Amino acid sequence: MKTLEDLFEHQLKDLYSAESQLIEALPKMVKNASDSKLKKVFEDHLEETKKHKKRLEQVCDELKIDPKGETCKAMEGLIKEAESFIKEKKDDDVNNAGLIAEAQRVEHYEISGYGTAIRYAKELGHKDIASKLKETLDEEYGADDKLNKMAEQRLNRKAID
Ligand SMILES: [Fe+2]
Repeated sequence: MKTLEDLFEHQLKDLYSAESQLIEALPKMVKNASDSKLKKVFEDHLEETKKHKKRLEQVCDELKIDPKGETCKAMEGLIKEAESFIKEKKDDDVNNAGLIAEAQRVEHYEISGYGTAIRYAKELGHKDIASKLKETLDEEYGADDKLNKMAEQRLNRKAID
């Protein structure tokens, strides 16, 4: 890796791997969430994640690079953590709270990755690519926001009980 261009390519491949892994993992989150609103948040984000992967394919196509070939070890770890949490015995409320926490870790990781990729794209003069990646970043922020609301609602319900 010698240039910022190389680093940018690495970031894009890392994100591509992260999104691909998340497409495999989100259905398990949907299946395991017992709260219908939380299920819906995961389902909606699964559809968005498929779009994110497509956008990265388009970006890589424009740059004439292959998006495949790297494994995002960080996402692999986050998903492993979520999977082992799912396997543990716990009550519904704790389960949903934990799923929200795991999903927010994933979103924050992606937010950081896209933020970096957008900065590099701008620095390298790829204005259109930067704005395409920004669309994804906004959706990641949106998903995180919904998860925050879910976590707060849970707390509010607790206060009423
Ligand atoms: Fe995404």
